[in-house]
Amino acid sequence: MSNVDKDWIEMIEGERGQVRDQDLYPKLSRWAGSRAFENILDIGCGQGICSMKINLDQGLYTGIDSSELLIKRAKELYESPNTKFMVADALDLPFEDASFEAVFSISLIHLIEDVEEVMNEISRVLKPKGRFFLVTAAPGSYEAWEDSYKEKSLEGKCLIGKRLTFDGSEVEDTLYLHEGEEIHSAIEDAGLEIEDIEAFRNFIAIRGKKH
Ligand SMILES: C[S@@+](CC[C@H](N)C(=O)[O-])C[C@H]1O[C@@H](n2cnc3c(N)ncnc32)[C@H](O)[C@@H]1O
Repeated sequence: MSNVDKDWIEMIEGERGQVRDQDLYPKLSRWAGSRAFENILDIGCGQGICSMKINLDQGLYTGIDSSELLIKRAKELYESPNTKFMVADALDLPFEDASFEAVFSISLIHLIEDVEEVMNEISRVLKPKGRFFLVTAAPGSYEAWEDSYKEKSLEGKCLIGKRLTFDGSEVEDTLYLHEGEEIHSAIEDAGLEIEDIEAFRNFIAIRGKKH
């Protein structure tokens, strides 16, 4: 069982996660509420909290994550007739082309080396005119991201660093500090159109649609 996953659960379900109530969750909820999506995919859903931040009405939410521990936790906390959680890889989504009206992904892109590959998968599973909402580390805040680690090394865009977890143990994270231009091109080359980019804390939120 990975300490990174345990720390994520502790963070999201504890006081440290409350900062998201002020910005991330209202933004996600407004985006998801802007249309009544019939089916919505959350890529890298973690322990599943974002499923609770959107109004599903008659819609169906699917959350995928590569961590078995986090998917188990998501099922314990949030499984319902409108939600489904499964272990899967963001780079090889187990869905047919054009399966979803809407796709969102929070804090995943900076964990993936090949941003083009993830954008191609998002575009593939979105229906034509489908909507997306992506939150990732803000290229303008990479210094702050680097400062949050000790014993760090930066090779190209790959940052490896250590940080303390809730129980005082150390974990190593690998982040990919993609240039803004690389993110934009990957989105556009995948056949997606950016409608709006908004910065908050050390993140950017990118909203748009498939052509
Ligand atoms: C920072 S957490 C964000 C979790 C959730 N989106 C949230 O904001 O509450 C990033 C998540 O991405 C998952 N992840 C990393 N690489 C992945 C991949 N290739 N495929 C699927 N999930 C991945 C991790 O297991 C982790 O749960």
